Formats: sequence, structure tokens, C-alpha cells
Amino acid sequence: MTYRPFDGYHRRAVPAPDPELTQVGPGTPAGEYLRRFWQPVAFARELTGAPLRVRILGEDLVVFRDRGGRVGVLHLHCAHRGTSLEFGIPVERGIRCCYHGWVYDVDGRCLETPGEPPGSRLHERVCQGAYPTHEFTGLIFAYLGPPDRRPAFPRYDSYEVTGHRLMAAAKFTLPCNWLQVKDNSMDPVHTAFLHALSSGYQFTEAFGVVPELDWVATEAGMVYIATRRVGELVWVRVCDFMPPNVHQFTREIEEATAAKPASRPVIIRWAVPNDDALTTNFELAQVDPAWGLTPEQVAQPGFGQSGDRPYAERQRFPADFDAQSSQRAIAVHDLEHLASTDRGVIMLRRLVRDGIRAVARGEDPFGVVWPEDKAIRTFTQDVVLRVPLASTPDEDRRLLRATGRQVVA
Ligand code: FES
Ligand SMILES: [Fe+2]
Repeated sequence: MTYRPFDGYHRRAVPAPDPELTQVGPGTPAGEYLRRFWQPVAFARELTGAPLRVRILGEDLVVFRDRGGRVGVLHLHCAHRGTSLEFGIPVERGIRCCYHGWVYDVDGRCLETPGEPPGSRLHERVCQGAYPTHEFTGLIFAYLGPPDRRPAFPRYDSYEVTGHRLMAAAKFTLPCNWLQVKDNSMDPVHTAFLHALSSGYQFTEAFGVVPELDWVATEAGMVYIATRRVGELVWVRVCDFMPPNVHQFTREIEEATAAKPASRPVIIRWAVPNDDALTTNFELAQVDPAWGLTPEQVAQPGFGQSGDRPYAERQRFPADFDAQSSQRAIAVHDLEHLASTDRGVIMLRRLVRDGIRAVARGEDPFGVVWPEDKAIRTFTQDVVLRVPLASTPDEDRRLLRATGRQVVA
């Protein structure tokens, strides 16, 4: 709708969000798609004895470590009469419900119904819903999809970075839909506005240069390439999005004051939907031991990522949490006016939609089948190159884009 003055009255309608992309519960298109991938459900550091109640993809679950050291992810409500297993007791093998003592193994098998008469075979007819788990670098993943479609755990090349150690990092929750959280990962122009020009420099001053933007499909999914001219230097920042809900980025410390080789210590972040309007980010981080950070420091969310700041401060210095979660609980795509800088968002949504439709057709979505013998190649990095200025601004913009493309070639 084009401009008409004082036209709020005609623009009040808020259409429904896109159900195909945004609904995550059991049986929904995106929900079934997301279930085809290993999803983080908790950090190992959270399993300190008591079971942990979580909500993942609209399902209420309990995560626990039994006394034998195995991790279980079970449906929350006991198969006997529904008491929550968050009040259960981890035992040598499985978890015991507090109410009548029934015990479930990590695969859901009922091992004991202690109140029943000796010789009772009731336990053979009872089963608690359970999901397979995989523990990696202190992060516990579960697979909530159809058992016969369980994929191998993907191995990104960013899990190994020379001189760095992969560590369990931050966990934080946003009160909004998962897709807008992920949209942000392929929206690099916001780093110039939200993180620099709008509310002061949150990272480095170099972020305040509006970058030349490009997006390229890769083996792992896609990347953005944000290329900035800083005098005789050109800073290329690349970040990956790996469908369905993973992205990774370098630390926001680049000053772009001298040429330097590619650095790729990364944060790898999964945006896991708790339900349609709540999303928890789980991060692993590549940490240089020389930084001298404790595990507690590594586990701190970056500035403005979580909702831990006072409202008055968030209003004056808004950051990612505020920008993403205020797009409505579930962003309404029909009301958007996508611009040239949103090409990455369009591309990301297309990747996701293609995956959703593949699953709906009974096929494997992109991102679940990988060659077993080699790591999946990703490109996240900061590199600063010496590139003399071209003779006109237009030519220089072309030069910047070409320079950026070379980095991911
Ligand atoms: S409700 Fe769990 S044992 Fe009875
Ligand atoms: Fe951001």
C-alpha cells in the first residue's frame, strides 16, 4: 500500500504469521522438518543431580543423567498417571518417578513397577516416550524425529580450529518465534545500524561502515559476505547459516586497522524452538586458551543477546534481543517490505521452506545426509586485505564484492 497521510485506520489488520515456516509443534510442517535434525536440549552442566524440565518443539520433556552416567530425554509425564518426571529420582539405570516409584530406562523401557504384586508383568506393557541423545562438547542433543530417519551427527569443520578449544558456551531464551531469530543471522547490514550507528558502537567502530553485501550458497547451507572499505584496507566478514537452525560467526572484535590473515574462532549457535513463540539459543565457542577465560565466562551471553538488561537501558541501547523479539511474538511476513538488504533473509527462508516441503513429500531435507569421511566445509571468518581504492565509487563497490566472493571461493 503506497503512502497516504494519517492512514493508520486502514492499516490495522494483522494477518496471521506464515504457518508453514513458523509452527513447530508435532505434526506441523516446520515441526516435522526441524525434528529431522539433532537439536540441543540442554548443557551437560545443567544436569547436576536433579532432572531438568525442558520444552522443545512444543513437547514437554525431562532431561537427566542417571547414576550410571547415561543421559535420558523422556516425555515429561509419567506413563502411570502423569506425574512430572522433573520430580523423579535418577537411579543407577534410568529415572524413578516420585509418585509410585516406577522406573524408566533412558530408552523409555519400564524397568520396575514396585507397588505391583511379585511376578507382575505390567512393566512389560508400559513404555515412556523417549528420544535418542548425543553428547558433544558438553552440549546434549536429542533426535525427536521418526526413528528410521535418524541422521548421523553432522561434523562441521568449525568444530576444530587450530590453537582453539571448543567449549560449551551460552544459553539464552528469546520470547519469539525461531525463524526471526535465524533471519537475523543472514542480515549483516544490521551490524552497521543496530550495533553501531543506531545506539552507539557495541562492538568496534569498524562495524559502523555500511558493508557491501553478498550471499552465496555453500556445501553447508549459505553464507553472508559483508565487505567494508576502511581506507586502503578491505575487511571481509563471512558468517555461515546451516539449515535448519544453526549459524556461526566470529567474535565481534575486528578493528580493521591492519591487514591480517583469516581468523576463524567462531561461535556456533543453534536456535531451538521451545514452542511457536519461545526460542532458546545454545552456543558452542572456539576459545583461545591465551584469552584466559573461565568456563563461566565463556558461558556468558554476548552483549545484548539475552533479556538480562533493564528495560530503560534496552530502550536507549537496543541490541539483538530487543530487535528480534520485538518483531512481534511471531513476525508477520505479509506485513514486511523486504528490501535489497534482505536478500539473505529471503534466501534463508527459501532454504528452510524447501526443506519443509521435502519432508512433507517424504524426502530427506537438505542438511541430513553428509559424506562420512570428511568434515562439512564452512567459511566463517574475518580477513583484512590491502586493496587499493578503485577509481570510482561504483567500481570500488564492485571490487569489494569481488574481493568478498574470492574469500569463499
Ligand atoms: S505417576 Fe509415576 S509412578 Fe505413578
Ligand atoms: Fe546482531
